[in-house]
Amino acid sequence: MDGEASFFGLAGKKALIIGGGQGMGESSARLLARAGADVALVDLAADRAERVAQLVEGLGTRGVPIVGDVLDDAQIPRIVAEAADKLGGLDAMVSIVGAAAWGSLLDTTPAVWDQQLALNLRYFFLVARETAATMIKAGHGGSIVGIASVDGQRASPMRGAYGAAKAGLISLVQTMAVEWAPQRIRVNAIAPGHIVTPRLYNTPQRVDAYANSLIPMRTRGETDDIGKAALFLSSDMARYVTGTTLDVDGGLLAANLFPRGLPGNNA
Ligand SMILES: NC(=O)c1ccc[n+]([C@@H]2O[C@H](COP(=O)([O-])OP(=O)(O)OC[C@H]3O[C@@H](n4cnc5c(N)ncnc54)[C@H](O)[C@@H]3O)[C@@H](O)[C@H]2O)c1
Repeated sequence: MDGEASFFGLAGKKALIIGGGQGMGESSARLLARAGADVALVDLAADRAERVAQLVEGLGTRGVPIVGDVLDDAQIPRIVAEAADKLGGLDAMVSIVGAAAWGSLLDTTPAVWDQQLALNLRYFFLVARETAATMIKAGHGGSIVGIASVDGQRASPMRGAYGAAKAGLISLVQTMAVEWAPQRIRVNAIAPGHIVTPRLYNTPQRVDAYANSLIPMRTRGETDDIGKAALFLSSDMARYVTGTTLDVDGGLLAANLFPRGLPGNNA
């Protein structure tokens, strides 16, 4: 991608990846680094953050590992300040952390509900708010990207609290985009469909069968599919894009669960 690095307008820019230690976060870090950005990686696991920072350095830009827990409110100002101090500014933030708890609504206790909202929505609000405040102080604008899910855009049976939290994130991104547009901060989300990540919750055979029956492209996505969307949204390529959620799902939402084999469905 070296020849096209200037295309993205990210050379020398400073990016912070929350949950950058593996999977989609690692992918986003690698792609942003290839476009010339210096990248700070925040992760609970020091070895993960360190490994991806080394990977970034190997691509010729600065990689800064930061150990931190974004579910601990008190750490968030320190995490964002450490990234801005060590990188020398902050132009982009991509926030990956999130996960679904499995269970019907009737089995969803108040504790599970609170945990899901904390892990998929509340921390994103706090990290994005802190990042925006830092960007506003610097006065150069910037980009913020959150990870939603197709589950935030339709019913999400057996993971209802997760779906509600991701729907909240989609709404929040729109409000942030409107409130911070005057300061030239763009805020967007990515809604992954089914992506192969290090933290797969199902046997490959079952997931493959599911992909084959529901996803028009008949395959699950790769972490780089999300990394590329994060690169696009963080870059000048998306200069006029804000408040949107980009589905990266192989056509899953477009298909709207219309079963194969019915007349007129050639998918
Ligand atoms: N995999 C899919 O098919 C899929 C589909 C839709 C949405 N998503 C969303 O994609 C995102 C990434 O999912 P994933 O499975 O690739 O993530 P992951 O769990 O593999 O990676 C996240 C990284 O964040 C770190 N982390 C976790 N909690 C943290 C905390 N409190 N503070 C700092 N770091 C923390 C982990 O150590 C890990 O390295 C999530 O928001 C998820 O909801 C995934």
